[in-house]
Parts: sequence; C-alpha cells; structure tokens
Amino acid sequence: MNIEKLKKTAQNFGTPLYVYDLSIIDKQLDKIKQGFNTLNNYQLFFAAKALSNISILKYMNNLGLGLDAASIEEVKTGIKCGFDKNKILFTPNGIDLSEIKEAMSFGVKINLDSMESLQDFSDSYPNQSISIRINPDVLAGANENVSVGHVKSKFGIPEEQIYDVLKMEEEGKIKVTGLHIHTGSDIIENNHFEVGIRKIFFHAYRFKNIETIDLGGGIKIPYFEGDTETNLKKYAEVINEEVLRFNLKTKKNIRLIFEPGKFLVSDSGYLITKVNYVKKSSHYTLVQLNSGFNHLIRPTLYKSYHEIINLSNPDDEKFEYSVVGYMCEKDTFAESRMISRISKDDIICIKNSGAYGFSMASNYNSRLKPTEVCIIGNKFKIIREREKFEDLFRGQIDIFKD
Ligand code: LLP
Repeated sequence: MNIEKLKKTAQNFGTPLYVYDLSIIDKQLDKIKQGFNTLNNYQLFFAAKALSNISILKYMNNLGLGLDAASIEEVKTGIKCGFDKNKILFTPNGIDLSEIKEAMSFGVKINLDSMESLQDFSDSYPNQSISIRINPDVLAGANENVSVGHVKSKFGIPEEQIYDVLKMEEEGKIKVTGLHIHTGSDIIENNHFEVGIRKIFFHAYRFKNIETIDLGGGIKIPYFEGDTETNLKKYAEVINEEVLRFNLKTKKNIRLIFEPGKFLVSDSGYLITKVNYVKKSSHYTLVQLNSGFNHLIRPTLYKSYHEIINLSNPDDEKFEYSVVGYMCEKDTFAESRMISRISKDDIICIKNSGAYGFSMASNYNSRLKPTEVCIIGNKFKIIREREKFEDLFRGQIDIFKD
C-alpha cells in the first residue's frame, strides 16, 4: 500500500473516492495461477457483481478472464465490454423466462437453478445444452447473508431433485452439459470447499453429456495481518484428485470454471474519505467521516472487518476510536479500533473496499455516489465521475411542475 500515492488521489480528486490499484489485480491473478498450477484445464470468470465498472471489466477481459454475470444487465455490460459470448456465464436466481430468452438470443452460457425454470426452459428450447446450479447442502461462508449452499438457501436445484433432472434428460427434454455450485463468500474452512467438490463430482458421473464443472467463487482473502485465507494449493489438490478419477473413468477431459470476485479485486480497492469531526464524550471518541453505508455497506450489513489507516498521520501513537459514517442510521465502519492519532480533516483509508464496495453503493439519504479512480503504473485515471446533484433526479417525473 502506497500511502503517498493514495493521499495524492484525495488531493487530486477530492473525497470520498474509490481508488483501485490495477497492479494488485495482476498480483492476485498470479496468486490464483500459482495456486492452481497443478490444474490443467480451467478457466477463470470474474464475478462482475464484485466490481462492475466498465474499465475494470475491460481490464479483466484483456487479462483473458471470462465473466460471471448475475443479471441480464451484467450480461449486456459484458457484451458491451467486448467479452466473447462463450466467455460470459449467466447465473441468475428466480428470474422470469423472458430474461433467459434474451440471454439465449445473445448466445451466452446459462446456469439454471430451479426445476421450475428448467421445465420452462425445456418447453421453449427442447434438448438444448444447459448448465445447472446444484444446491450441495453445505453451510459455508463468512456469515448467514453470504452462505448460499445450504438446503434452506434459495439457490440451486436441491439434491433431492437431481433424479428429476436426469429424467428430463432421458426424455430428451434437456441436455445438461455443465454443473455449477457456489456455496458462499469468504469460505474459511477448506473442508467446506471439499464437501462441495466431492458432491458435485459425485453427481457429475450421472450426466453423460457433461463438459464443465463450475466451482463458483468464495475464495477467502485475509483482511488483516495473520487473518485466515483459503489455501489454494490444498483446494486444487482435492479438485485434482476428483478430476483425475473422473477423467479416467469417463474418458473425458472435464473443464473447470472458477468465478472469483473478492479474491481478484477486494485488496485492490480503497475507500478514501475525510474526517469531518472527532466527536468526544465520556462514552466514546467517534471519528465522523464524509461517507457512510451508502458508499460501503459491508461493515454495517455483514459486520465485516476493514482495516482503517490514517493516511495523514500513519506513524503517530495509536488511540482507540470508533469510526462512523454520516448517514441518519447506525453506520459504523469500525468499533473501538486502534488507529494512529486522528484529527479533523485527516484523510482516512478504508482497505479491502474493491469488492462489493461501489457495486453495492446507493443514494440513500439522497447522498451522491463517489468518483472512482484507477492507479495504472504511475498514472491516475478517473473511471467514473463523481455524481452530481442533478443526477439524483434522472428519470424522476415531477407531476406537479407547472
Ligand atoms: N459466483 C456466484 C454464482 C456468486 O453468487 C458469487 C457471489 C461469486 C461467484 C463470487 O464470490 P466471491 O469470490 O466474491 O466470494 N456482498 C457480499 C458477497 C456476496 C457474494 C454474492 N455472490 C460481501 O460483500 O461479502
């Protein structure tokens, strides 16, 4: 982390702002490739939901990655950014057939995640290739909001219905060429990955047209020194074991897909803010920032930990602060955190804001969304203008205007 460079972005572009250092994306990509170097037939699809600015998506495309899209809008954004159609994978949940039809018309790959949508799909596209998302019944992920692979989660076709899928295939209604799982984000326990892997391969043997197995995202990154992280080598070991056995038994060369979001971009992003006041009472010392959960909702929504650095005074004595936002609701970025002495107007950096930061930002309290800036080598490039007051009213219709 280059403190001087980050401070400069605040001077040049004002606060609050998001800054993404592209060199860190490169580094993370290298780490995955290194960790997966024993796997020989796999593709990486960047999860657009983590960070969907078109400049970032184009950068991912240039790096050779595919795109994991959660909505038809993300599919269309991917096409706009130049991704090859067969490197866009659409994994929606609970959507209407019309969205699937639109995706089919673009020729992108699709993962369906319920029997109901599969039946609808087969009525319109009999015996067409399709990939399905399975719910493997794994309780994985950092918190209940991001744990999506257990039986009660709304995602995926329940295992008990796989027999029905096989029956549809036997009857020539569908042709299942891919299986997919995604069980959670920030998966801490390596064996949660393992259970998912074993299960998806167990099911794969029953699908005679299978070509790809997609293991989703969820790779855990460390949020502070000494924090846990996914052991990629061990992850790859389990996968390899299953792949080798599968290829040997079926005489296939199964292709793997991974859909990393956080792993690629979390570390690359910083939310840079300014201290409005240091508010004191006998109960607290609050650092009040010119930002809030409208810009970064993760700490409020998931109680997620983000390291906070005082860029204006990084080496001074540390004191205990609670860092809060300016919303008319509780929006605490950090509680009772030791940070080097903070004063009014200091520039504060919230780390690990690259994933699910801007992409989850809102206009709540009629606040404006910040600007986004990239660091490319020694250059800064604006990739999104700061929102303007007038932008709040775009699309609104004033029926009382005379
Ligand atoms: N693939 C699928 C089908 C997904 O649903 C997701 C994330 C990913 C891949 C990427 O997962 P990742 O590698 O980023 O963990 N907003 C939450 C995370 C929600 C994840 C939703 N799905 C957060 O900020 O922690």
